[in-house]
Amino acid sequence: MRGFLVALWMLAATVSATAQPELQERLKATQADPTALKAAVEAGRKASFFCANCHGEAGVSKTADVPNLAGQNPAYLLEQIRKFGSGERKDAFMQGLIKVLKDEDRLHIALFYAASPVVPAAADAAQAAHGKVLYGKLCQRCHGDQARGSELYPRLAGQKLPYLQTSITRYRDGTGIRNNQLMSIATATLKNDDITALANYLTQLP
Ligand code: HEC
Ligand code: HEC
Repeated sequence: MRGFLVALWMLAATVSATAQPELQERLKATQADPTALKAAVEAGRKASFFCANCHGEAGVSKTADVPNLAGQNPAYLLEQIRKFGSGERKDAFMQGLIKVLKDEDRLHIALFYAASPVVPAAADAAQAAHGKVLYGKLCQRCHGDQARGSELYPRLAGQKLPYLQTSITRYRDGTGIRNNQLMSIATATLKNDDITALANYLTQLP
């Protein structure tokens, strides 16, 4: 089991580290320089004016099936933008839109959203309690004990409930809209009720 986990971890590390390494390096360099970071966040605020139509002014969406981007790990945001661009992740609207974004804009937008505050939502308390148990067993080792993610994994805390539900179901069912080997393994045993419970737990976390 341990060897298996290490293999999974290494797979995850390679996936994130090898896709667009130059842009990911630029992201790290900007994060390490407070003046450059401030300027990048400001530029991202401007560059994201169109995204705000769906993702909300500061990355908190008002629509159930549109994810929040606020507080999200910027390396993950850059990687998802790349995936929409390459067609590895499918969404008719996002795929078209992302193609016109230059690397510079992608970097700024990712840093802007990462710096925006998360707004958790209300959830069913009994569902959330069940979800917490499942999360501890099946998800925590990658997404973190507070579901805030890391450089390698997305934040899930405070995400929109319906979006969480749809995304987890897609990974489990292997619909081809979104594929990730680690996530299909992690979600393989989940029943629909488990997914509802997990989404209730995650959406109310700060
Ligand atoms: C017409 C509405 C719309 C607009 C405008 C829009 N998005 Fe999206 N975006 C979506 C939807 C819907 C999804 C979820 C797709 C799915 O179900 O996988 C999404 C997903 C994303 C994701 C993945 C988030 C995650 O948690 O995995 C990123 C990143 C993203 N959008 C960035 C952007 C950026 C940057 C812009 C502006 C250049 C933008 N979006 C404009 C609707 C929109
Ligand atoms: C072995 C590590 C690992 C485990 C365990 C894991 N995940 Fe993930 N998760 C990932 C990775 C990597 C991604 C990004 C995949 C991609 O690029 O689509 C991800 C993405 C997600 C997303 C998409 C987030 C977004 O913003 O679109 C959700 C939701 C999610 N995981 C929920 C869960 C749940 C619920 C569990 C437990 C049942 C879980 N994960 C267990 C590694 C893991």
